[in-house]
Amino acid sequence: MKVLVTGGAGFIGSHTVVELLSEQHETLILDNYRNSSPEAVRRVRELSNGRVTAQEADILDTQNLSCIFAEFQPDAVIHFAGLKAVGESTMNPLLYYRQNIEGAISLLEAMDRNGCSDIVFSSSATVYGEPDYLPLDEAHPLRPANPYGKTKYFIEEMLRDWCAADKHKSAIALRYFNPVGAHASGRIGEDPNGIPNNLMPFISQVAVGKRERLKIFGNDYDTHDGTGVRDYIHVVDLARAHVAAVNALVRIDGFEPVNLGTGQGYSVLDVLHAFEKASGRTIAHAFAPRRPGDVAASYADPTRARQLLGWKAELGLDEMCISSWNWQRQNPDGYAGS
Ligand code: NAD
Ligand code: UFG
Repeated sequence: MKVLVTGGAGFIGSHTVVELLSEQHETLILDNYRNSSPEAVRRVRELSNGRVTAQEADILDTQNLSCIFAEFQPDAVIHFAGLKAVGESTMNPLLYYRQNIEGAISLLEAMDRNGCSDIVFSSSATVYGEPDYLPLDEAHPLRPANPYGKTKYFIEEMLRDWCAADKHKSAIALRYFNPVGAHASGRIGEDPNGIPNNLMPFISQVAVGKRERLKIFGNDYDTHDGTGVRDYIHVVDLARAHVAAVNALVRIDGFEPVNLGTGQGYSVLDVLHAFEKASGRTIAHAFAPRRPGDVAASYADPTRARQLLGWKAELGLDEMCISSWNWQRQNPDGYAGS
């Protein structure tokens, strides 16, 4: 299939393009490099024997998008492009509503103009908000607690209506839990700007000597060791789920939300200890107050992904830590260091 990948130079997009190419799909990356680097595309090209095409473009430019669609004629779209920082979205909500929601509208309009009716969308487990029960299944009520999460929720609703208006349309919204890890080669990985907000890149930067110590936000949660529990999922597993979703679009009509997680929760201390084992380094850490907006525990019921996509996560916490360390060690300054 011909797959247009918006945000394909980013963390999850770059890994997904590698997997799409290894399954013989033809891909076109479309990215404005707002939060990524052309170096990521160069490395994807290196990992896939040069078969990647990429175009610098902004998804908000519907006219240009439409021309790109007319030329490439994709069978399906995977839509990663967007902004993703929860804290920034709280401080600048209109930026998030414009970039994420208007970006999605622009993309769907370009698809409509060019007869493309199949899309896989990057949603997030953040659409669930504070869990009523665990594990979280797709029927759990949706109550996102910040503007970023609300953009994911609104785009899901838009996709539901877009599909309802035309029975030939299909949209799969993949609700990711906590994506971590890197490609086994160590050539592509997560390259956050500035001080990382997320746990795994922060731990990796402590291990490599770029940060002094990890602050653990809260050790008084009602969890097995008092620290927050999450469902970490290896980015390569996540990437393979996108390939499964693209393949499933042909047999699915309408809108389908699907959780992507392992179903297994690990605490901050579990991750820290696994990373120490993977890297052979001690991770200096200190306990700090809870981070506002954090929940005690969140993990997926991944049954639907198995039923609908024939996919389940294969890689465990050790592989997540080994690959994160391998990437960090080889690229202490991310893509900027090359
Ligand atoms: P990322 O920032 O690495 O990738 C997003 C890509 O989109 C970047 O390459 C960026 O340059 C590009 N982009 C942004 N705005 C654009 C625009 N207007 N036009 C063209 N390109 C644009 O993020 P990621 O971690 O790979 O996440 C991919 C998607 O998955 C995002 O939609 C994110 O919200 C979602 N998601 C991520 C996580 C996570 O923890 N990483 C969790 C849940 C959901
Ligand atoms: N944590 C720390 N110290 C840090 C960073 C994180 O103790 O420096 C803890 C958090 O308190 C939490 C756990 O590590 O208990 C995981 O935190 P992350 O920031 O890595 O991930 P979150 O679960 O908070 O959020 C992630 C994504 C969001 C997404 C959400 C739900 O960053 O974009 O998962 O899918 F919305």
